[in-house]
Amino acid sequence: MLKDKRIVLGVCGGIAAYKAADLVSKLQQAGALVDVILTERATEFVTPLTFAALSHRRVYANLWEPSGEAAARHIELGQSADLLLVAPATANTLARLAQGMADDMLTAVALACPAPLLLAPAMESHMYAHAATQANLRTLVERGATIVPPETGHLASGEVGVGRFPETATLLAYVRRVLGRGGDLAGRRVVVTAGGTQEPLDPVRYIGNRSSGLMGFALAEEARDRGAEVLLIAGATTATEPEPVGIELRRVGTTLELRAAVRAAVREAVVGVDALVMAAAVADYRVEQPAAQKIKKGSAAENADGSLTLRLVTNPDILAELATDERAAGVVRVGFAAETTEVAKNAASKLERKQLDLLVANDVAKAGSGFGTETNEVAIFHRDGRVEQLALLPKAEVAAAIWDRVVPLLRARETRP
Ligand code: C5P
Repeated sequence: MLKDKRIVLGVCGGIAAYKAADLVSKLQQAGALVDVILTERATEFVTPLTFAALSHRRVYANLWEPSGEAAARHIELGQSADLLLVAPATANTLARLAQGMADDMLTAVALACPAPLLLAPAMESHMYAHAATQANLRTLVERGATIVPPETGHLASGEVGVGRFPETATLLAYVRRVLGRGGDLAGRRVVVTAGGTQEPLDPVRYIGNRSSGLMGFALAEEARDRGAEVLLIAGATTATEPEPVGIELRRVGTTLELRAAVRAAVREAVVGVDALVMAAAVADYRVEQPAAQKIKKGSAAENADGSLTLRLVTNPDILAELATDERAAGVVRVGFAAETTEVAKNAASKLERKQLDLLVANDVAKAGSGFGTETNEVAIFHRDGRVEQLALLPKAEVAAAIWDRVVPLLRARETRP
């Protein structure tokens, strides 16, 4: 989604300016066209050459440089931008932006720029907390700017506090979210489930599964990037994903907890949910009576021959229940089928039994597909019997392909009498 997007990046004169170099590099690698503008003070921390080498484009620093190019281009740069990002934004530049000043290239471009404004303030804690800085941030937010909150941690001053420049991955997620506002899921509310459920045997042990959560997280992030408001309900995940930005994340443990969270989200929502994508690997059975204390060898729980019997009972099928639930009517429902045998046959019957709009099936026994991998090879089953076999793709691309098929279903619901 960043490909060919025109991003104007303003870099201010704070010590975090050097970190903006990594941001430019990652944006450029993702295909964005990044025009960097350094404030005069920024050039004392970093050089225009650093940014020109990374962006492969001309860098602007001085509005009044003798060639006149910067002066000539400030309107055009502002007008053609898809996003104006100021990172790091110092207290001084925030004040200048809030006042609508145009005393350098960056602030002049900002006034000429109708694109969304994304600000990543980074400064010493006291400067950040000062009423003047906070008032300036409020003014900018009222005018439509989005703020990436600074992180808490070690500051260049030697103190620990709020004011740190966020990680590049966090900034990229904000960039994607702001650019996605006009996407094909803008105004939609979607619920995605991810990861695996865990069914306790006793306070320390559980029955779980190998779900990494990667597919569900990719689905949630893709929906966010296309403008959706996303609730991600996640069970246990073996992949250590950073907390997703701009997504509401709710953690659950057991299938019953997952069911309660999905039902609350879908049935009791004040504003209706448009789509539910159940990528979570849900336990079909749970231990009927988990032990209150840790089960010990030789304890009364054992059979006479030293074996241990666990009685498992069936868990409710969350998707199947929603199929007949009036309060969930109209929600586009997508299920997953992780199979090891007879994928097509099982998938088709699951689609029917759970009354799904789409079913995404994968053979988890295949190399490069399913649990813990970065890639997935899936087949998408439609209600009308169509089956589309997709190639082995990164999970982010599988996620995009799934939303590509959900969007027309959402539109079709709106036009139905
Ligand atoms: O029938 P099976 O468990 O294989 O179906 C998988 C699909 O159904 C997945 O989308 C999964 O998240 C969902 N599921 C569910 N409730 C269950 C078990 C699975 O909604 N109890």
